[in-house]
Amino acid sequence: MQAEPLLPPPGLAVDLGCGVGHSERFLVERGWQVLAIDLLPEAIAHAEAQCAGLDGIEFVCADFRTCTWPANQLTLGFNAIFFVPTADFWQVWESLRERLTPGGLFIGQVLGSQDDWANEAMGSIRPEEEEQLLAGFSPLHFEHVTRPGRDVFGREKHWDVYHCILQRT
Ligand SMILES: C[S@@+](CC[C@H](N)C(=O)[O-])C[C@H]1O[C@@H](n2cnc3c(N)ncnc32)[C@H](O)[C@@H]1O
Repeated sequence: MQAEPLLPPPGLAVDLGCGVGHSERFLVERGWQVLAIDLLPEAIAHAEAQCAGLDGIEFVCADFRTCTWPANQLTLGFNAIFFVPTADFWQVWESLRERLTPGGLFIGQVLGSQDDWANEAMGSIRPEEEEQLLAGFSPLHFEHVTRPGRDVFGREKHWDVYHCILQRT
C-alpha cells in the first residue's frame, strides 16, 4: 500500500466494500484489527477463504449505506465509494467522517462528475463540492485525475477520479 508511511499507529480499520479481501492480510500483519464490510455474500465468502487462519478480522455482509460501524482509526473505500448513489452520497460521507477518530485516515477514491460512470446510481462530486468533501479533514494526498483512458475490459472511457488520503482533524 503506497500510503503505508502515512498510516497512524494500528487500531481499528474499517474496509467499506472489502470485495474479495485484498487489504485485510496487509492490515492484520501490521497489527490492525479489521472490520470488513461488503454487500455481496459471495465477496464475503471469498474474502473469508482468502484470510483463513488470520486473526483480527471480522467480516460482515451488510450495506454500508445503512449499517453502522464503530469509531475507527482507518477507513478504506477502495473502488467502493463509487457505488454509492448520488442520493446517498453525502449521508454516507458524513457517517464515514464522523466515525473516524481525530488523526485517523480515510483512504480511497471518489468519483468526479465528468467520469463516464457518473450517474444517479454512481455518486460523484463536482469541483465546487471539493470543499464540502474535505470539511473536517486535512488532505495528506488529494489528487484530481481527469483524463481519457480505458476500463478493465480495455474499453475507452473518461476517468474523473479524486484519489484521497485524508486525515480527520
Ligand atoms: C470494485 S469492488 C472493490 C473491492 C475492494 N475494495 C478492492 O479494492 O479490491 C467494490 C465492492 O464494493 C461493494 N459494495 C458496493 N456498494 C456497497 C454497499 N453499499 N455496501 C457494501 N458493499 C458495497 C461491492 O459488493 C464490491 O465488492
